[in-house]
Amino acid sequence: MRPSTLATRAEAPDPSRARRAGTDATRSEAPIALTGVTKVYRGGGGVRDLSLEVGWGEVFGFLGPNGAGKTTTIRMLLDLIRPQSGSVRLFGLDARTDAVAAHRRLGYLPGELALYERLSARETFAHFARLRGGPDEATVENWARELDLELDRPVRVLSRGNRQKVGLIGAMMNEPDLLVLDEPTVGLDPLVQRTVHRRLREAATAGRTVFLSSHVLSEVAEVADRVGLIRDGRLIAIERVSEIRARAVHAVEVRVGAGAGLAALEGLGGVTVRERIEDGLRLEVVGSLNPILAALAGLDVLDLSVHEPSLEEVFLSYYDGIAR
Ligand SMILES: Nc1ncnc2c1ncn2[C@@H]1O[C@H](COP(=O)(O)OP(=O)(O)OP(=O)(O)O)[C@@H](O)[C@H]1O
Ligand SMILES: [Mg+2]
Repeated sequence: MRPSTLATRAEAPDPSRARRAGTDATRSEAPIALTGVTKVYRGGGGVRDLSLEVGWGEVFGFLGPNGAGKTTTIRMLLDLIRPQSGSVRLFGLDARTDAVAAHRRLGYLPGELALYERLSARETFAHFARLRGGPDEATVENWARELDLELDRPVRVLSRGNRQKVGLIGAMMNEPDLLVLDEPTVGLDPLVQRTVHRRLREAATAGRTVFLSSHVLSEVAEVADRVGLIRDGRLIAIERVSEIRARAVHAVEVRVGAGAGLAALEGLGGVTVRERIEDGLRLEVVGSLNPILAALAGLDVLDLSVHEPSLEEVFLSYYDGIAR
């Protein structure tokens, strides 16, 4: 691979033109449309018959365990490898024959980051900025401050997390219409991770699109609108994060003074009594906790505990039967 996070964008001398081209007319086409895409490697791994559309202003989390086919899919989006069958379209353009035009409008962070080791981060960004016509140095410094990146040391001496920041800033600093990020928060500490997520949300709010891969649902759920689950090369589920959350079953334990008024809880929709305890109940609550909290407001609550299962538990247990 070429030693750059974003060599694919190097052909874009004028990002303002690219941005103009990204408005209105061309926004009628989905930024990502995969149809029946298959790429099977010699060893049998790969991606099979994958179809997926991602819309404008959306953060899409591409979730799957190691070896599931995330990177393979992303490389097909970028035309770094070619599918054996099916079609890949970006902004309505053919990902292969119109690669130059498509790449002008996207920022890419590869999973295996290759950087110019002898350059500092500042020099790396200046190099990108020359190729792409921006952004200015103040913008770069602002990014570095936000992500806590030292700009003037050679990239080769940076820690893994700091190298990742170089890759991320390189991908994001031109505010491309589409960001394709392969495990973007690997190696980042939680604070930086949160900053990156906030920036990705901002991009989406501004109408741009983000496609990011991860193997941790709780992490992508913080930032994604929808999540697609890939296993063994097959896309087995696509869901809104809000729907996954709504399916979460909370384990609630409540005790009230003299056990009075508990009957009001038992008849609520989505509430199942699991066990009666002294002056209280153990309940399972599907969906929103609001009805039960409203009912408790009128009671003399002595003790209340709520256990929320991880989104991982909710999502993966639901699909276990299908996927295995
Ligand atoms: N160049 C290759 N040659 C042969 N097999 C490959 C090649 N690249 C990937 N594979 C296989 O294809 C499957 C999918 O790999 P891929 O790298 O897309 O997974 P991934 O979801 O990105 O995993 P990870 O979370 O570990 O990054 C795996 O079984 C992998 O071994
Ligand atoms: Mg990968």
